[in-house]
Amino acid sequence: MEPKEVILERLAQVRDPELGASIVELGMVGEVTVDGRVAHVQVALTTASCPLRSDIERDVREAVLEINEIDEVVVSMGVLDPAAKAALMRAARALAQARAPQTSIPRRAPVLMIASGKGGVGKSSITANLAIALAKTGLRVGVLDADIWGFSLARLLDITGDVQVREGKMVPLERPCGSGSVSLLSMGHLADEKQALLWRGLVVQKAVAQFIEDADWSNIDVMVIDTPPGTGDIVMTLARLLPHMGQVVVTTPSRAAQQVAARAADFASKSHIRLLGVIENMSGFACECGKVHAPLGVGGGRELAHELGVELLAQIPLRDDVADGGDDGLPVALVDDEGTFHELAQRLWSLTPSLIPAGCTARLLDVLDDAVTGA
Ligand SMILES: Nc1ncnc2c1ncn2[C@@H]1O[C@H](COP(=O)(O)OP(=O)(O)O)[C@@H](O)[C@H]1O
Ligand SMILES: [Mg+2]
Repeated sequence: MEPKEVILERLAQVRDPELGASIVELGMVGEVTVDGRVAHVQVALTTASCPLRSDIERDVREAVLEINEIDEVVVSMGVLDPAAKAALMRAARALAQARAPQTSIPRRAPVLMIASGKGGVGKSSITANLAIALAKTGLRVGVLDADIWGFSLARLLDITGDVQVREGKMVPLERPCGSGSVSLLSMGHLADEKQALLWRGLVVQKAVAQFIEDADWSNIDVMVIDTPPGTGDIVMTLARLLPHMGQVVVTTPSRAAQQVAARAADFASKSHIRLLGVIENMSGFACECGKVHAPLGVGGGRELAHELGVELLAQIPLRDDVADGGDDGLPVALVDDEGTFHELAQRLWSLTPSLIPAGCTARLLDVLDDAVTGA
């Protein structure tokens, strides 16, 4: 084998820890030359400020120095041009999808994760209303309450009861809704609030993984996931298990919230999750006096969407009935048949085809699955 080939073989073992794939597979290795016993290797990163820069450089050096014929390695670190970066993100997404564990979620069912930088911005309220609005269009909507400590969806959707186990899998609790249905799995069904608070770290990640891997989601058309704020372990676990999901970022109109939300969105690009858009919640309050009050500021959602290069999917006003509906287990989308949440559901649904990994192939595989399992 040529020395250059040997070097590339070694470099194939070096992984980009964030993207979870080999730097060769990801196309980050540029020119490789050998001059006597000295190897020159070009590596291009996604951004110049990549926090893993020195780790990758070290791993490259160590990998090449393992070769007997090489005594010295000169690593030059560069940055991918935008086109190469876009190709890399596509490659990373495809690899993550190819390696994702098999779940019962049908391949044709898109998965939407509702995320935010901070708590109290309305993620859970939006998840509940969005799920209902989607169900009313005839879809079977799976709702995963991944906010393990702060679960709230059992109450918001008024879906309570004991989770049954069928053939070793938890069966989400289902409630008919319009011409569709909503099926929920939440910590609220398994633990009382005090118990859940005692859970930490690994156990929590395991709980989320079990909600995906050890549950029967085979009867859904779409999944909506409510998350805890931020980009902690739970969100990372979701990204690993469901790499084809799309993320929606919720923010309030205030500038401060916008910055925190940007961090949550940044996670999407780093973990090759697709960012579908921004929802601004708690926008202006239409007062009976005729004025629109904006206690939380104006414009944060639009600015964030612009900054991220995605669509502002909805501006949901501050409304009494959103808050009251939450308290009563009667979300507004259940009471009304049109309005913000129904428009949001339509808009999001129209974006979901981009999430289905292999388009026609996925559908075909599902049909085959159904035929084999007799569903
Ligand atoms: N558009 C809105 N108008 C009025 N109250 C809202 C709105 N969205 C959310 N709320 C209220 O704000 C509080 C926090 O919402 P929640 O959905 O629990 O946020 P998160 O899940 O992001 O922590 C709840 O009391 C909820 O009823
Ligand atoms: Mg919540």
